[in-house]
Amino acid sequence: MAEALISVLLEQLASIIQKQVEQEVTLVVGVKKEVAKLSHNFKAIQVVLEDAEERQVKELNVKYWLDSLKDVSYEMDDVLDEWSTEILKQQIQKKAGNAGSTSTTKKVCFCIPAPWFCFGQVSQVILRRDIAVKIKELNERLALIASERQNYNFQSTKRGIEQIERQKSSSFVDKTFGRVNEKEILVKKLLSESGQGGATCLVIPIIGMGGIGKTTLAQLAYNDEQVQAHFNNRIWVCVSDPFDEIKIAKDIIESLKRETPTSNVLQTLLEVIHESIEGKKFLLVLDDVWNEDYRKWEPLKLALQNGAVGSRILVTTRKEDVAMMMRASADTINLKELSDENCRKLFYHIALVDREISEYRTFEVIGQEIVKKCKGLPLVAKTLGGLMRYKKTMKEWEDVLNSKIWELEVVEKQVFQPLLLSYYDLAPAIKRCLLYCVIFSKDYNIVKDELIELWMSQNYLNSVGNKEKEAVGEMYFDNLVMRSFFQEFEKDDLGNITGCKMHDVVHDFLQFLTKNECFVFEAEGGNNKRIMEFDGYNKVRHLTLMFAPEGPLIPSSLCNFKNLRTLATFDSKIASFGRELISQVKCLRTLNLSDNFLKEVPDEIGELVHLRYLDLSDNDDLMKLPDIVCNLINLQTLRLIWCTNLERLPEGMGKLINLQHLHVKYCRSLKLPKGIARLTSLRTLDEVYIRGNDDVDNNKEALFELSDLRNMDQLRGSFRIEFLEDLKDARQAEQAHLVNKNCLVSLQLSFSSATFQEEIVNALQPHPNLESLSIGGYCGTTLRPHWMTSLNKLRSLTLGMFLFVEFVPPLGRLESLEVLCIVSWSRVKKVGVEFLGIDGTIETQTSSSPLILFPSLKRLEFNDMPMWEEWEGMTGWSEEEEDSQKTITIMPRLSSLRMIGCLSLKTLPNFLRNTPLKVLVINACPILAQGCRKGRGEWPKIPHIPNIKVGKEFVQKYGVYQADDDETPSAASTSSSGNVY
Ligand SMILES: *[C@@H]1O[C@H](CO)[C@@H](O)[C@H](O)[C@H]1NC(C)=O
Ligand SMILES: *[C@@H]1O[C@H](CO)[C@@H](O)[C@H](O)[C@H]1NC(C)=O
Repeated sequence: MAEALISVLLEQLASIIQKQVEQEVTLVVGVKKEVAKLSHNFKAIQVVLEDAEERQVKELNVKYWLDSLKDVSYEMDDVLDEWSTEILKQQIQKKAGNAGSTSTTKKVCFCIPAPWFCFGQVSQVILRRDIAVKIKELNERLALIASERQNYNFQSTKRGIEQIERQKSSSFVDKTFGRVNEKEILVKKLLSESGQGGATCLVIPIIGMGGIGKTTLAQLAYNDEQVQAHFNNRIWVCVSDPFDEIKIAKDIIESLKRETPTSNVLQTLLEVIHESIEGKKFLLVLDDVWNEDYRKWEPLKLALQNGAVGSRILVTTRKEDVAMMMRASADTINLKELSDENCRKLFYHIALVDREISEYRTFEVIGQEIVKKCKGLPLVAKTLGGLMRYKKTMKEWEDVLNSKIWELEVVEKQVFQPLLLSYYDLAPAIKRCLLYCVIFSKDYNIVKDELIELWMSQNYLNSVGNKEKEAVGEMYFDNLVMRSFFQEFEKDDLGNITGCKMHDVVHDFLQFLTKNECFVFEAEGGNNKRIMEFDGYNKVRHLTLMFAPEGPLIPSSLCNFKNLRTLATFDSKIASFGRELISQVKCLRTLNLSDNFLKEVPDEIGELVHLRYLDLSDNDDLMKLPDIVCNLINLQTLRLIWCTNLERLPEGMGKLINLQHLHVKYCRSLKLPKGIARLTSLRTLDEVYIRGNDDVDNNKEALFELSDLRNMDQLRGSFRIEFLEDLKDARQAEQAHLVNKNCLVSLQLSFSSATFQEEIVNALQPHPNLESLSIGGYCGTTLRPHWMTSLNKLRSLTLGMFLFVEFVPPLGRLESLEVLCIVSWSRVKKVGVEFLGIDGTIETQTSSSPLILFPSLKRLEFNDMPMWEEWEGMTGWSEEEEDSQKTITIMPRLSSLRMIGCLSLKTLPNFLRNTPLKVLVINACPILAQGCRKGRGEWPKIPHIPNIKVGKEFVQKYGVYQADDDETPSAASTSSSGNVY
C-alpha cells in the first residue's frame, strides 16, 4: 500500500514543480528546497518498502513504522493536491482574464458567496503560506521516519518472499471428496491420442485461485490406474516461484533415472532429458507454476518435444498468463469451487474423525454452519476442520462460528498464506487497486467501468507510458481477472467482461490486509457500540456506512473519522446532510450517497476541494444541484442515474474541466444546461433527451441541444439519444457530428416524437468504429440510411418498433454483424432476398469470387411480426445445384435463430439447412410451428438442428406472449441430443 502511495507522491512532486515553472508563478516561495528534501527522503524509504510491506504481516513494530509513514504520505498527498488545485484555479482564472481583456464577456468568477472559496488575494497568500508551513512540518516528520528505518534492518534488494512458507506438493493424494467430473474430463484429455496442432506433447493447464484444489485434482489424475498404465513415465515436479530451470531439469532427470545429476549447466541437463525421454510417452506434472516468461520455458519445452506422441504436460497455476505463455489456453481446465456437500464431507472427515458417535451428533449441526464459511474452498474446509479437531466444548465451536474468519489465526496461517503469494506477485499499483475492492460488500456485483472510475478518483491510476488512465485501469482489471482474484464474470452481448464478483474468502483476505484502513460501520440499533470501542478512527480512510436511519446524516456518528477519502452509504435513508458533516470529511475523494432520500444538496459541498467522484444516483426527491458544485474543479465523475425528478444542473457546469464521466441515464425530467457543450473532454455522457422547441426554458436559460454535441468528440462507450419532441430544426442532427466520435462503441436512438425521423436518422451517421446500434420507435415509412450498410465493425444491431416500414433493410453485407434482432415491424409481409444484401437470383452476381452473406452472424431473432407471411429463400438454390452453393454462402456461423410472435409466417428460407444452427426457437408462431413438425413442409430445412424448441403454439392476441427463460441458447447448445420438444 505505502509502496504505491509513495511512487505516486514522487510523481506528483515532480509534476507540481514543473507546473509551477510552466505557469511562471511561484505559488509557494522557498519551497523548492523543501521539495527536494522531500523527494530525497521518500526515495530513501522507497527502496526498503517492499521488504517492509511483507514483514509487517508478522512484525508489529514494522507495521507501526509503516503506519506512520502512511499517515505522513496521505497528508502530503492532501497538501500536494491542494497545491495543484490552486495552480489549476490560477490557470482557469488567467484564461478567463485573457478572454475578458479581448472581449466584454463578463469576468468568470467563482465567487458564489462562500469565503473559503474566494479567489481574493488575501486568502491566496494565506493558502500559500499554509502549504509552505505544512510541507515543512511534514518534511520533518518524514526525515525522522526515514532515519528510523535503520532500526529494522530492511533488505533493499529482492523481496523477502521466502518468509512465506510455500508448501511443497508431492504426487501422493489424501482422501478427497468430489471432483469426479473434473477428474474424468482431465483423464480423458490425458489419454486422448491426438496431439493438438501436430505437437507431440500437449500442455494442459489447470487454473484456479489459491486453495481451490488444483494440486489435488492433478494428484487424482496422476494416480489414476488408467493413467499409470498409459504412460511409460510419470514425473511430478513442484515448481513454485521462482522458476528455476536447473532445479526443474534436475528433478525431471532424477525422477526418470533415479539418480541425481551432478552438472549445473542447463544445456547439459536438457540434453540428458532429451535423450532419456526419446520415444517414451511421458506425463509431466508441473505443479504451481508462476513464470510467465516464455524465454525461460522455451528451452525446457524444446527438450521435452523429444518424447513420444501422446506425451502430456499437466500444469497447475493461478495465472491465466501462464496458460497463455505456454500457448495452451485451448486446453485449459478452469477449476471451480467444491460443492457445499463435498466441502461438508471434507470438513467432517477432518474435524470429527476419531470421535464418539454422540460427540459427532453434538457438533454436526453447528458444524454445518461453520462449513458455510468455506464457500467451496477445500483449503478452508481443511483448515477449519483441522482447527475444530481439538475443540471439545460447544462454547469453543460457537466461538469459531461467531468470529470473522480473518480473525482466526489458523486461517491467517494456512489460508491467507497462499493468497498472500498471489498478492505479493502483483505490482504495487495493482495491489492498491485490489485492496480498494474491500469497500464493496461481499457478493457485490462489481461493475468494471464503475470500479475504474473509483480507482481514478483515489488517484490509483497513473498513466503508464502514453496510456490513458482508463486504459491503465482496464489493464489492472484484466490483471486481477487473470490472477483469479475476480470471478463470476458478467459479459455483454458481445462477450466482453463488464463485471465480476470476488470470492468471499478473497474478500476476507482483503479485510485482513486492510484492517484499519477500511471500515464498515453499521449505524442501526445497538451496533454503535462497536464503533465506540474502536480506537483507530484516524487511520480509517474508507468508510462504508450501513443502515443509516431516516433523516439527516448525523455527523456525531462520524465525527472521529477525520481522514476519510471514501464515504459510501448502503441500505440507508439519509434525507439531508450539512455543514457539520462536511467539515469532518474534508479529505474526501469519493462520496457515494446514492439510493437515499436526499431532497437537496447543501452549498457546503463546495468545500470538498479534493472530491473527484460524486454519486447521487437513485435519489428520487432530488430536484436540483446547487451552483456551487461547479467549483469542484477536481471532479471527474458525477453520477445521477435514476434521479427521476432531477430537473436542473447548474448552468456553470462547463467550468468542471476535469469532469470526464457524467451519468444521467433515466433522469427523464432533466434539462441539461447549455454549458455542458463546453466539456469537450467528456468521455461519458450516457443519455440525452431532446426536447425540440423547448431549448429555452421558463428562466430564459439556454438548454443543451442536439447540435451541442458538435465538439464532444471524446465521448466513448454507450450513448443514447431519446427524441421526446420534434426537433426545431432537423439540421441539428447533422451538426451533432456523430460521425466524428470515433470512440463511441454503442449508440441507441429512440423516438417518441413523430416528424423528421428519416432525415434525423440519415444525418446521425455514426463513426464506422461503432460496434452496437439500436434504433427504436421509428415511424418513417422507409429506412434507408446509406450509412447503416457500411458499418463494418458493427457486431450487434437491434431495430425495434418500426411500425410503418414494409421492407427490412439489406444487412447481409455487414461483415462483423454477430447479433441481429428485428422486433415489432408490424407492416412487413415478406422478407425477400434483398435482406441478404443481394438484389435477385444468383445469376445477377457478376463477380466470380465466392460471396458470403451475413458472414459473422451468430444470433438472429425476429420478434412480434404479426403480418409477416413469407421468408424467401434463394431461388435456383436447390439441392441439385451444387455450383451455386459454391459461389454463395449464407450465414455460415449462425448458431441460434429465434422466431417469436410471427403469427402469420408460413415458411422458413431454404438456406437454413446449410447453416450450422444449434438452436431454433419457435414461439407463438402457430402456422410455422405446425409446418416444422417432423415430416411436414418445413422440416427438410431444419432436421440438422440439435435443439429445436417449439414453445406456446398459440396465443390469443398477437403481441401477448412471454419468452420463456429456459431458452437461453448457451444452455441449450451444450446438450447435443437431437431433441424436439
Ligand atoms: C470488446 O473487446 C474487444 C477486444 O477483445 C474490443 O476490441 C472491443 O472494443 C470491446 N468492445 C466493447 C464494447 O468494449
Ligand atoms: C453507491 O451506493 C449505492 C447505494 O448504496 C450502491 O448500490 C452502489 O453500488 C454504490 N457504488 C459504489 C461504487 O460503491
